[in-house]
Amino acid sequence: MIVAMGPKGEIGLNNKLLWHLSDDLKNFKKITTGKVVVMGRKTYESIGKALPNRKNIVLTRDQNFQADNVDIIHDPLMAFDLALEFNDSEQSELVIIGGAEIYKIYLPFVQRIYLTLVDYQGPADAFFPQLAQNDWREVSCENFPQFTFKILEKVN
Ligand SMILES: NC(=O)c1ccc[n+]([C@@H]2O[C@H](COP(=O)([O-])OP(=O)(O)OC[C@H]3O[C@@H](n4cnc5c(N)ncnc54)[C@H](OP(=O)(O)O)[C@@H]3O)[C@@H](O)[C@H]2O)c1
Repeated sequence: MIVAMGPKGEIGLNNKLLWHLSDDLKNFKKITTGKVVVMGRKTYESIGKALPNRKNIVLTRDQNFQADNVDIIHDPLMAFDLALEFNDSEQSELVIIGGAEIYKIYLPFVQRIYLTLVDYQGPADAFFPQLAQNDWREVSCENFPQFTFKILEKVN
């Protein structure tokens, strides 16, 4: 899972991101390129196109939904089957890229969270689910001028 959030878990407003952080977008590109990314239909609409050099999976209940260069699924579990077809290496990751509904659905399956913490003070209407602190350990932490980038791993 990869997410950028404010201190209260804020991730979006009016189907848009809350900030523009070019260093964070670079991190996002580096982490997701060559992998499978899974997003909700609203996040797909917000981005407006498939992300290049990644296998894009979009989750929707709309049986008529169409989009170029993406795989459309109606059942969250289908993402795992599609990811295996794309790349069966154990090193490869399926990355959940949001938004709020999609993070909530997949959180129980997630082993690693790439977490950007932004010092944001303002409105939001989309939030990352609360993490149970004992379930996660921080394995790296890097400070950038506008945000902190952490990697959390699931405690088994
Ligand atoms: N800060 C970040 O890192 C980050 C990352 C990504 C997104 N965001 C922000 O998050 C916000 C969007 O989040 P959101 O929660 O509103 O939308 P979302 O999670 O992107 O998409 C929700 C949609 O997913 C589909 N869906 C949900 N559960 C489903 C299920 N069980 N089966 C089939 N389809 C299902 C539905 O699509 P249909 O309505 O088509 O059926 C639903 O409307 C935006 O503001 C965006 O900018 C922030």
